[in-house]
Amino acid sequence: ASREQALISEITLLLKQHNATLVAHYYTDPVIQALAEATGGCVSDSLEMARFGRDAREQTLIVAGVKFMGETAKILSPEKRVFMPTLEATCSLDLGCPEKEFTAFCDANPDRTVVVYANTSAAVKARADWVVTSSIALEIVEHLDSQGKKLIWGPDRHLGAYIQKQTGADMLMWNGECIVHDEFSAKALKTAKHLHPEAAILVHPESPASVVDMADAVGSTSQLIKAAQSMDNQKFIVATDKGIFYKMQQLAPNKELIEAPTAGQGATCRSCANCPWMAMNGLEALKNSLIHPQGREIFVSEDLREKAMIPLNRMLDFAA
Ligand code: 13P
Ligand code: SF4
Repeated sequence: ASREQALISEITLLLKQHNATLVAHYYTDPVIQALAEATGGCVSDSLEMARFGRDAREQTLIVAGVKFMGETAKILSPEKRVFMPTLEATCSLDLGCPEKEFTAFCDANPDRTVVVYANTSAAVKARADWVVTSSIALEIVEHLDSQGKKLIWGPDRHLGAYIQKQTGADMLMWNGECIVHDEFSAKALKTAKHLHPEAAILVHPESPASVVDMADAVGSTSQLIKAAQSMDNQKFIVATDKGIFYKMQQLAPNKELIEAPTAGQGATCRSCANCPWMAMNGLEALKNSLIHPQGREIFVSEDLREKAMIPLNRMLDFAA
């Protein structure tokens, strides 16, 4: 713990010295989230991280999350320098949606408006008409559907299926998934619900349809936290990455929060409700992003940046 305290003090000082601000996602380790808050940075969902980074007065952003979050920050603020604890923190949705294949998919369906999830590379965003995050996806697809648009949706098939069910929009789907949410199991969740019949079920829409169908509230990380605060239930079973419990418990201190079970347990689950890439954002790596920044800085070519900025700004303007 004293090593941890020493690192926290060092990082706090380094952030000040570099006039840098720390932008962290709810899925990072609680120690990182607490540090972001304590130093005047932000802890939030993907949409809010993008907005905070764009509006920050500091000219250096340290993004604790996964690579697409750092890229989004750079696309929106090319004049700022954006560093990450490690550039190896990727996302199964990003990995499962290579630019070449996705471009061919879009080219084969030229009559469709291309809507991509924020969890994609800058190159995939550059091919899109709209970028969405989970907190605004439903409204944006509703809006496009009301204009009679037919859509390409990528890469998260679970989120896509949920939105399609809610809106009835015509969506041609890419077949990607988040390895963390894909592992939640309706069967195991039923057992948990039997044990806690009074608990409300909160589900992130990257989860399979059978799990989403059991939810009392479905939403992005920030929307799930709000649900835990505002719903009358005293107990919640929460189907999303474990990192969320730090902020959720802080904001809903009198509620009992229970982890939703994954299909496998212990040695048999892939992620065990803890994103392996988010977990790469440790204190040592964070400190290194401030003292050995080489190889930890985000660069996006100007050509890609200009293209990717258009659908990203569409989302931010729509959400404003
Ligand atoms: P949100 O925080 O936007 O809900 O995103 C969830 C996620 O999986 C980010 O990687
Ligand atoms: Fe990607 Fe899922 Fe990890 Fe989020 S939790 S970064 S969607 S793999």
